[in-house]
Amino acid sequence: MSFRTIEWRDNKVIMIDQTRLPGEEIYNEYEDFQSVAEAIKGMIIRGAPAIGVAAAMGIALGAREIIADTHESFFQQLSNVCDVMARTRPTAVNLFWAIKRMKRVADAHRDRELAYIREVLRLEAIRIEEEDLEICKAIGRHGAKLIPEGATVLTHCNAGGLATAGYGTALGVIRAAHDAGKKIKVFADETRPWLQGARLTAWELMKDGIPVTLISDNMAGFFMHKGEITCCVVGADRIAANGDTANKIGTYSVAVLAKENNIPFYVAAPVSTLDLSLAGGSDIPIEERHAREVTHLHGFPVAPEGISVRNPAFDVTPARYIAGIITEKGVVRGDYERGLKKLVG
Ligand code: MRU
Repeated sequence: MSFRTIEWRDNKVIMIDQTRLPGEEIYNEYEDFQSVAEAIKGMIIRGAPAIGVAAAMGIALGAREIIADTHESFFQQLSNVCDVMARTRPTAVNLFWAIKRMKRVADAHRDRELAYIREVLRLEAIRIEEEDLEICKAIGRHGAKLIPEGATVLTHCNAGGLATAGYGTALGVIRAAHDAGKKIKVFADETRPWLQGARLTAWELMKDGIPVTLISDNMAGFFMHKGEITCCVVGADRIAANGDTANKIGTYSVAVLAKENNIPFYVAAPVSTLDLSLAGGSDIPIEERHAREVTHLHGFPVAPEGISVRNPAFDVTPARYIAGIITEKGVVRGDYERGLKKLVG
C-alpha cells in the first residue's frame, strides 16, 4: 500500500489526515496526547482498529509528557491520560481494548524506573500497530476463500487500510481475493453523512488498482435486486457475545437487503473487536455526532437552518443477518455464542 495510516517516528505520532482525503494527502504530526485525543474525536483518524492504535500511541506520548517525582504521581497522571483517550469515541471497543492493554503493560513494570516504563509503553504501542497489520492479513487469508471468482462485493463505510494499521479488515478480504488472482469488483456505498465510502474506500481501492464502482447508499437495494451483487463484506466496531454487530450507520439496512435478496453478508473484524461482556447488541453504546455532519456538505448547507436532526454514527446488525464473522483466527458461522467464546477462550 502506498500510504501509512499512522506511525510512531522520532517520538512523534504521524497520521494521514482522513478529513482531507481524497483531495489532499497530508500527514499531521502529533507531539502530545491531548492533540491525539482531539484527532480521534475529529475523525482525522477513524475506524475501530486504527482508533485503538492511535489511543495506544497517544498514551505512549502522554507517558513521556508526565512530570512526576514519585511512581504514585506518575501512575495517577497516566490514569488521567487513559481517561482522556477513553472519552474520545464510545462505540469502537478496540479503543478500550488498547487502553486496557497499555495500562496492563505499565502495571506489569510498576517497580521499574520511570524511563523504563515510558520506553515499555512506546514499544507496546508500536507492537499493537505491527500486530494489527499482521492480523488484517490473516483476516484477508481466511476471508478470501469466501469470495467467489468474478464476484461483485458490496462494502459499506471504510474498513480498509485507512481504518487499520494497513491492509484493512473488509478491504483486507477484498485485497487478498484480488491478490489471489480472482477477478473481483467492488461496489462502495458512499456512506452518508461522513462519506467514508466515497472519500476513503474509493480512494484506497483505486490506488491499488482494484476495480471499484461508487454508489449512493440508497442504490444498494436496486443493484442487489438486479442480481449484480454476489456478497457483502463490512467491518465492525463492536461485536457482542451473540454475534450482534455494531458498524457504521446504514450497515443494518445493507444486511436486511442482503437477506431479502439471498446474498451472503459477512463481517470481517479482529478478535479485539469482540466484546463478550455484552450479551447482545442492544447493550452497545451508540455514538451520536453533531447535527452539522447531516445538514452541511463541505461547509455548504444542504438542509434548512434550524431543522431538527438525529445523527447516530453506528447501528447494530442482529446476528441472524450475518452469514459469517471473519477473524484472524478463522471464520465463525452459525452458533456465534459458542464460536466467538471459543476464539477468545
Ligand atoms: O465513524 P468511523 O469512520 O470510525 O466508523 C468506521 C466503521 O464503522 C468501520 O466500518 C469499522 O470501524 C471497522 S474498521 C476496520
